[in-house]
Amino acid sequence: MMSENEQTKRLNKLREEAKKGGGEKRIEAQHKKGKLTARERIEILTDRGSFQEIDAFVTHRSSAFGLDKQQILGDGVVTGFAKIEGRPVYLFSQDFTVFGGSLSETHAEKICKIMDLALKNGVPVIGLNDSGGARIQEGVSSLGGYAEVFWRNSMTSGVVPQISAVMGPCAGGAVYSPALTDFIYMVKGTSYMFVTGPNVVKTVTHEDVTSEELGGADAHGIKSGVAHFATENDADCLQNIRKLITYIPQNCEERVPVQKAKEPSPSKAARLDELIPLNPNKPYDIKDVIEGVIDEGSFYEVHKQYADNIVVGFARLAGRTVGIVANQPLSLAGVLDISASLKGARFVRFCDAFNIPLLVFEDVPGFLPGTDQEWGGIIKHGAKLLYAFCEATVPKMTVITRKAYGGAYDVMNSKHIRADYNVAWPTAEIAVMGTKGAVEIIFRKEIAAAENPGNKQKELEKRYNEEFAHPYKAAARGFIDDVILPSETREKLIRAFELCENKVDRVPRRKHDNLPL
Ligand code: HXC
Repeated sequence: MMSENEQTKRLNKLREEAKKGGGEKRIEAQHKKGKLTARERIEILTDRGSFQEIDAFVTHRSSAFGLDKQQILGDGVVTGFAKIEGRPVYLFSQDFTVFGGSLSETHAEKICKIMDLALKNGVPVIGLNDSGGARIQEGVSSLGGYAEVFWRNSMTSGVVPQISAVMGPCAGGAVYSPALTDFIYMVKGTSYMFVTGPNVVKTVTHEDVTSEELGGADAHGIKSGVAHFATENDADCLQNIRKLITYIPQNCEERVPVQKAKEPSPSKAARLDELIPLNPNKPYDIKDVIEGVIDEGSFYEVHKQYADNIVVGFARLAGRTVGIVANQPLSLAGVLDISASLKGARFVRFCDAFNIPLLVFEDVPGFLPGTDQEWGGIIKHGAKLLYAFCEATVPKMTVITRKAYGGAYDVMNSKHIRADYNVAWPTAEIAVMGTKGAVEIIFRKEIAAAENPGNKQKELEKRYNEEFAHPYKAAARGFIDDVILPSETREKLIRAFELCENKVDRVPRRKHDNLPL
């Protein structure tokens, strides 16, 4: 039997060996690419000294293609639990220096173990992905491993938050697991996501495309919307995840975390009353509205580069997290198109799943017309946003700053779909459509018959404006609860959210809904 000293030595030796991963050379190569190692990433992501590793001594069980001679402790993924800003998380961090971070059966078992624990204990899971996908030498065993992860991703969805960082060239299964999670972070210049890489693309479609063009952080952050955050480097990515964690509950049973309230700076709050231009066709930045209402510096924007005609993100109001959804008049006049509908719907559903109250700022001229949108399915995609707001049972409030036209009025968290507190600023125009379009349709004959059609149209537009371009028709019906001054918005919302803190609302019993996919 070994002496106590020898036993300690053996353990320490194994611990040291596990830390080396794929060896010095591969670690150097990882650094040369501007990437950190799996363990260095964990250091930055978690509170100092809080990480406790699980399964450091696991090795794979394969022998094909000489794999039995390449046993590396941990098998290419570091797993365990830690704290972020004092709150527990489970995490895994794939090690690209070991078989390119590829997923073997045992590598998958390690990930599944922490996912099972996260689900049982109601704790978020964070995955740092840096992987060439299924470990090719293991064949169907690695595919089975992926399916086990995917199944857990699906079962965990809506129970605990799942956050993915893509921090290297991720292909195949390595992109489908993140796709099933709530948020995807990417790193500019060093991370890629694709079902198949540029070589396969060339063979199949004859397209010449670089990894960056095909699946880089900008491709997915701006074009596809697959990534919610495109970050500057590994450290920036990990710090961003730390930030996100401060806004969200640990699981679907918990309430939002509370921090000290911070009034918005007086200059931002004071600007609100003069922000909306008199000319309804002139844009303004909805983020100025958001900043004038929420706790100072608390806005954490999600999907910043994708579909910027809608703005979504987390903020705090009197210290409590709210999920903000806002039309952005600066981009496409804030119209709802396919991308904006998808972006909004996904965010609303996350907030509702995790008890995050919703706050909508509305200035929307309607849905975007045209063949592009119709053939792309704006009807079914717009329906997703509508559905998401309808089914949300969290406290939900709307502030109409200017236009609330047509179907978009109904969709954007209207009173009719069970929002709790809806207000309009005096600048609000709540109508079936904008003045010019409406007059041209309902008075077509009168205008055509007039001696001076231009003058007639102007006169009718004036009449229409007096009738509809204000919030008081809606207020008279109780479709909005109040008309308020912009500078009153923060206080009124804080009080209204306070009242809704114990809101209980249920949807009818069913197996599951049938969200229009
Ligand atoms: C085993 C792998 C591997 C894999 C990479 N490696 N991917 N080993 N299985 N899937 C190994 C390499 O052999 C190499 O080992 C090391 O990792 C680094 O790889 P490089 O190619 O040198 O690195 P790089 O040039 O940066 O390219 C990274 C890469 C590329 C883009 C990820 O390796 C690649 O295209 N890999 C294959 C991707 C793929 O098609 N995977 C299967 C997807 S199918 P050495 O010993 O030289 O360091 C899948 C099914 C799931 O995942 C189903 C989903 C629905």
